[in-house]
Amino acid sequence: MTEILLGIIGGCGHIGLIHAACLASLGYTVVAYDSNTAALKNLAKGIAPFYEPGLQELLHKTTASGVLTFTGRINELHRAGLVYVCVGTPSLADGRADTGPLESAVQELAGVVAGPAVAAIKSTVPVGTARKISRRLAASGLAKKLAVVSNPEFLAEGTGISDFLNPSRVIAGGEDAAAVKRAASIYAPPGVPVITTTWENAELIKYAANAFLAAKLSLINEIAALCEQAGADIRLVGRGTGLDPRIGASYLEAGAGFGGPCLEKDLRALISQFDRAALPAPLLEAVLAVNRRQCYRLVQKLSEKLGSLEGKKIGVLGLAFKPGTDDVRGSPSLPVIRRLLALGALVAAHDPAAGASPVKRDRLQAVLPGLTLASSPYEAAAGKDGLLILTAWPEYKKLDPEKLKHCLAVPLIVDGRNLFDPAQMRALGIDYRGVGR
Ligand code: UGA
Repeated sequence: MTEILLGIIGGCGHIGLIHAACLASLGYTVVAYDSNTAALKNLAKGIAPFYEPGLQELLHKTTASGVLTFTGRINELHRAGLVYVCVGTPSLADGRADTGPLESAVQELAGVVAGPAVAAIKSTVPVGTARKISRRLAASGLAKKLAVVSNPEFLAEGTGISDFLNPSRVIAGGEDAAAVKRAASIYAPPGVPVITTTWENAELIKYAANAFLAAKLSLINEIAALCEQAGADIRLVGRGTGLDPRIGASYLEAGAGFGGPCLEKDLRALISQFDRAALPAPLLEAVLAVNRRQCYRLVQKLSEKLGSLEGKKIGVLGLAFKPGTDDVRGSPSLPVIRRLLALGALVAAHDPAAGASPVKRDRLQAVLPGLTLASSPYEAAAGKDGLLILTAWPEYKKLDPEKLKHCLAVPLIVDGRNLFDPAQMRALGIDYRGVGR
């Protein structure tokens, strides 16, 4: 297709690996570098380090044809013309994003690349980061070899491949117009809006988008509480609200609160950027506070029925932060289970992906000591005083409510994902409590 050699830094991570496989599937030759030797070893055996629909097949195809290779040596990016930087920017204790590893990676790349090349930063970084990195490169005489572009990603877990191949928009910012154009044009399909802009605009578009999504969820979750008091149904309220095109129909499902590795992390990092700028951010802080409370409302629903949870047996369906992934990072299930265990409850949980292998089960038990893992949803429900649904897995929606009722010692279901029809459940004699209905 083209002569340009593409590089990836952070090639074993969620964003990096999806970029590597998708870019290779578009016909580019891609070298994915990562310092995670364990993940590289597994990839060499054809095992992806995490579950993402369609990824395993794409990796198989692109590695077998030789267009995608992995390496643990950054100097193998020597001939790359464009390198997508997908290094994680985790939260520091005070909420700031830790950009240290990313900054070092770009500096190291500048040292090994022949150039002229482009480092396109995919990672979510505080406003001003790309300019700072670029200044440092200039100060060390490397800016001519390596131009820096801010090129945020908008992939959601579970739909990462289709989000990459059919993006809603492509954003690229920087001061070298040719580099910006190159980073964007490599993968933007025809007809997709492309915004080429400054570093700062590109960096803030990413934070604003995630903050907006988080705000939408906290708003609908807050309104859900009033629905419960008023005997209204949040699903209908959300649907009727979202039909206004200015609001939009998606991302209006009330539930256990937003989880995952991105929304809360990015919200905290954005608040810390306001702090640094000595600006108030009361709305963003409220979005975070509403979300942190949301999952505990489900524990409260159990207590309303059962009283003290000491010694009570509770089944939990769902550990992943959303369906379609085995990722439990930031999942509402973690604080909920911790709270239940702290209150003296005995908890058994099931998840079709997060608990699917012995390695994953060991990891879960390390994070949630005291938790028992069940091999099926019905096993999680068996003999329990209540069942809590926390992840909207499609297979949970297909469960037989009558069978669940017979498994449970107390027919109480607290549904944090509104998977069932409350009237039908109540007609079966189940004490069913959803969110906002
Ligand atoms: C999010 C954004 O959606 C992506 O656009 C962004 O690129 C990504 O973060 C990132 O910054 O890398 P992701 O964290 O994978 O993607 O997951 P989402 O699909 O946004 O879901 C986040 C949480 O919100 C989940 O816990 C989900 O259950 C919850 N959610 C989502 C709801 O409670 N209700 C909804 O209607 C939608």
